Amino acid sequence: MLALGLQGSPRKNGNTSFLLSAFMNELEKLGAQVKIIDADKKNIMPCIECSVCEKEGFCPLDDDMSSDIYTLLRQADVIVVATPIFFYSAPAQLKALIDRSQALWARKYKLKLNDPGQKFKRGFLLAIGATRGKNLFEGLTLTIKYFLDAVGARLDGSLTYRSIEKPGDMKKHPSVLNDVKEEAKKLISPLLLRKKILFACRKNSCRSQIASAFAQHLAGDKIEVLSGGSRPAKMINPIMIEAMREKGLDMAFRKPKSIEKAIAEVKPDIIINMGCGEKCSFLPGVRTEDWDLPDPAGKPIDFMRNIRDEIEKRVVSLIKDFE
Ligand SMILES: Cc1cc2nc3c(=O)[nH]c(=O)nc-3n(C[C@H](O)[C@H](O)[C@H](O)COP(=O)(O)O)c2cc1C
Repeated sequence: MLALGLQGSPRKNGNTSFLLSAFMNELEKLGAQVKIIDADKKNIMPCIECSVCEKEGFCPLDDDMSSDIYTLLRQADVIVVATPIFFYSAPAQLKALIDRSQALWARKYKLKLNDPGQKFKRGFLLAIGATRGKNLFEGLTLTIKYFLDAVGARLDGSLTYRSIEKPGDMKKHPSVLNDVKEEAKKLISPLLLRKKILFACRKNSCRSQIASAFAQHLAGDKIEVLSGGSRPAKMINPIMIEAMREKGLDMAFRKPKSIEKAIAEVKPDIIINMGCGEKCSFLPGVRTEDWDLPDPAGKPIDFMRNIRDEIEKRVVSLIKDFE
């Protein structure tokens, strides 16, 4: 389970950094893999409102958003946004990342494509400000709520702190470590109970991607889906993307990975080999099934559609097994 932290403060070792690290440490202790992005250390251009994303679904700006942040936003099971208040909103570096998520908003609302993870993806807000006003976090909370919606998550909770100004103020707060412990547990406990299924094939570009998307879409709150390939391709198959688009599922920003990487930090309860001619994956003591499906790579879209529909049927019955 990947928990992605987005850190909005440009201050080195500031209050937000402390708060986010404490929260992510708790998530890690509970079993999540964690990754933090410091917005101000990334090359993220502001949105130029060219509207390309509304027609094509992709942002034409070439920077860290396109190279890895869109992919991480898609991969994450949990997104934690941590930020100081700057003029009742978020600092510009984080706001640029938020605005650039318009590309994901456009895919969802203009192109009507669903992120397969959107039913289970959770979001959380950590925010701090120097003053004490009643409305201090209102604008920011709305911004983060709609940012999370655009990236296929929902705002599940928040911790906000007033009167935090100088470096070190957050660290001295009497209840912060307890607050963080409680909220981190509440946030990911339901996701920790999920059974883990690995879908494996050779390239992790078609069959295992299709199966993992259907499993996430249909039962991502009950199943933690892993997928990998014995010899991963450089990119996922464009005809597969098209075939999944016909089902309303958005495969954009996915990248093939190796089986070793997929199971590096988590042991699957079940392995489904999609049919590689050789055993894609095997772990002693783990229930393993072979679906023996032909490889659709290089075949016309009708072939891909048949494989897609067959995989969907099998995923549906696999999920019934769990009920
Ligand atoms: C440019 C700027 C704007 C700020 N605007 C606000 C504000 O509108 N309201 C507020 O309460 N604090 C405001 N602050 C104070 C910060 O939110 C506060 O010092 C916070 O603790 C900084 O967290 P950090 O150490 O993680 O950067 C502002 C600070 C800066 C530098």
